[in-house]
Amino acid sequence: MSQAVIEALRQVVADSYALIGQTHICHWNVRGPSFFSLHVAFEQQYTELFTAVDEISERIRAKDALAPGGLANLAQMAGIDEIAEDASAEAMVQHLIAANEKLLVDLKTARDKAGEADDSESEDLMIARIQVHEKTVWMLKSYLS
Ligand SMILES: [Fe+2]
Repeated sequence: MSQAVIEALRQVVADSYALIGQTHICHWNVRGPSFFSLHVAFEQQYTELFTAVDEISERIRAKDALAPGGLANLAQMAGIDEIAEDASAEAMVQHLIAANEKLLVDLKTARDKAGEADDSESEDLMIARIQVHEKTVWMLKSYLS
């Protein structure tokens, strides 16, 4: 039971890291009339996520398991596509919506596994993360509409 929670949390870490990387490249390479707003929004998103990844990894350690790390290892585990360097601002937003939605799938799996294992602390952490990423998806979708 607990092993299922650990595996689910490790997947959340890998895809969170992948999302940090994708949001960061969008922060750097976004161009066009919405440069300033997107540049700032993307920075807020990856900065918040960087803090969250630390908390999730330390939750894994608190459960006496090891956190995943290293770019190659994380990339191998992650299930998030990579965006082209020269993508348009709109394509970046579309891409980040999909990446956040993939992470939401991981988070909901981890939330449910934690619930089944009576691990309320991990469940609580996952619920908090779901709220953040659902808000991010809403904001990104609002930009496109
Ligand atoms: Fe920056």
